[in-house]
Amino acid sequence: MKVLLAGSNGQLGRCFQDRLPFGWQILATDSTELDITDLAQVTATVSAFKPNAIVNSAAYTAVDKAESEVAVAERINAVGPANLASVATQHGIRLVHVSTDYVFDGNTNTPYTEESVTNPLSVYGITKLVGERAVSAAAPDAIIVRTAWVFSEYGNNFVKTMLRLGKERDALSIVDDQRGCPTYAGDLAQAIIALLQQNAAGGIYHYAGDKEVSWFEFAQAIFSVAVQKAVLSKAPTLTPITTAQYPTPAHRPAYSTLAGEKVMGLGIALSDWQGALKKTI
Ligand SMILES: NC(=O)c1ccc[n+]([C@@H]2O[C@H](COP(=O)([O-])OP(=O)(O)OC[C@H]3O[C@@H](n4cnc5c(N)ncnc54)[C@H](OP(=O)(O)O)[C@@H]3O)[C@@H](O)[C@H]2O)c1
Repeated sequence: MKVLLAGSNGQLGRCFQDRLPFGWQILATDSTELDITDLAQVTATVSAFKPNAIVNSAAYTAVDKAESEVAVAERINAVGPANLASVATQHGIRLVHVSTDYVFDGNTNTPYTEESVTNPLSVYGITKLVGERAVSAAAPDAIIVRTAWVFSEYGNNFVKTMLRLGKERDALSIVDDQRGCPTYAGDLAQAIIALLQQNAAGGIYHYAGDKEVSWFEFAQAIFSVAVQKAVLSKAPTLTPITTAQYPTPAHRPAYSTLAGEKVMGLGIALSDWQGALKKTI
């Protein structure tokens, strides 16, 4: 397998490189080496490296900032994936693209399947959905993996934010009425590798954590491990609050659990995020 990786400095990009199977070749590119919004650059990179798979871990992931940077988010989350898909199709290359649980509106309490109706509430969610559709249109054979609440030892994520705030403050208020499944980026990378190894059929796949929680419950789990591992001497006092008490520029789904039956049917285990949290911390 010869893989061109876009967005190599992100959480997924870094975890993917760490888990590259023996014998696979990779050209790992960050945004300075390959800007996915630049079609000429994508074409030149693919023509020179001649991969048989492209993994797109590049994205605009600043959910709140996207509300005021619509054009930038749209270029990275929709135009970029469209560029990768059209070049992949021209060269007969498999594309793996990554999307989000925020394509859903959260007005349910049963897990979303790959066929569930989308209705994003935020600019980020809209641009990611436009990206998914552009990828499916230009590369029907592409694998689109929707994931959620990603954390890892790399980059910016909720786990790192909690650990930082836990050192700075004695008390924290955390939203308790948004529920979803944390996902360890390393497990997501393994799942993508497995889908490529199996030459899985093109289409959408949901991949996330194996246990649903609220952000408040996720924070409780983080601080419990942090104290156990002596990363923090004591946990801050946590108070559950509502979304209305913590207004943000972007609206987020109140419920975004992704059903994992499709990937599990391929023998791919969901992310054991509680186990991964211990290792990450
Ligand atoms: N993080 C989450 O909680 C979450 C939740 C659901 C779904 N997802 C999806 O999962 C995927 C991976 O997310 P992640 O958390 O690993 O993201 P991340 O850590 O924010 O990394 C994204 C990477 O994309 C790069 N990038 C931005 N614009 C680019 C461009 N024009 N060309 C090439 N690279 C560019 C960034 O590089 P620079 O830093 O140089 O800009 C960054 O390294 C994304 O598709 C995301 O939408 C994430």
